[in-house]
Amino acid sequence: MIKFQNITKIYNPTTVALDNVSFNIEKKEFVSITGRSGAGKTTLLKLLLAEEKPTRGRVFFDDQDVHKIEPEKLPQLRRRIGAIFQDYKLLPSKTVFENVAYVLEVIGASDLEISRDVPQVLEIVGLSDKPENFPQELSGGERQRVAIARALIIRPNVILADEPTGNLDPYHIREVINLLLKINEMGTTVLLATHNKEIINNLGKRVITLEKGRVIKDEEKGRFIF
Ligand SMILES: Nc1ncnc2c1ncn2[C@@H]1O[C@H](COP(=O)(O)OP(=O)(O)OP(=O)(O)O)[C@@H](O)[C@H]1O
Ligand SMILES: [Mg+2]
Repeated sequence: MIKFQNITKIYNPTTVALDNVSFNIEKKEFVSITGRSGAGKTTLLKLLLAEEKPTRGRVFFDDQDVHKIEPEKLPQLRRRIGAIFQDYKLLPSKTVFENVAYVLEVIGASDLEISRDVPQVLEIVGLSDKPENFPQELSGGERQRVAIARALIIRPNVILADEPTGNLDPYHIREVINLLLKINEMGTTVLLATHNKEIINNLGKRVITLEKGRVIKDEEKGRFIF
């Protein structure tokens, strides 16, 4: 489903963020990407979203070279990929319901779709009881779950989560990881970038380890090695 083929990314002038990286990810896999700060995790996710271009190599999503997609067709690619970041990116002046609905409004969904889909997704992330709350009235874990709901509402084939637990305490970390596992069980491919050792070691899922832009390990049921 996702294929990185000999990807090298050099930022100007000389920073080699990724160095000849190759791997495949199948549909419905749950894969963690780990490695020290600066190892290239975020760059890798940005290349899949076509937010950055590779210096060499190709990235395929369902056999389509994502860097050959015409700019006007990129929204179609990004609609198949839900992205979640550490800093939530919620709209402070909108309620939980409105934050999730807004994603649908932007892509031109009807009011009917919005009133049908938003409650469903809030149910999945366990926020059915807080649709009218504003982000500042939520805990960190709840905010991250709104961010996950925003990613889920487009019914993506893949969820990319870039250090989604970075600002959370252990209780909320577990809550967010369990939610990602549940989403994966529902059939969505999950790509999780994190340097959290406990998460990686408790997951028992595939782990790709980067060091200075190179894949140094790619293991089923991998462990954190730093
Ligand atoms: N836009 C950019 N311009 C120049 N260099 C960049 C840019 N983005 C990232 N880099 C560099 O590329 C390397 C990889 O960065 P990246 O953000 O992918 O690392 P990371 O593994 O996500 O790190 P972290 O765990 O701190 O988030 C680093 O050396 C970083 O300084
Ligand atoms: Mg990063």
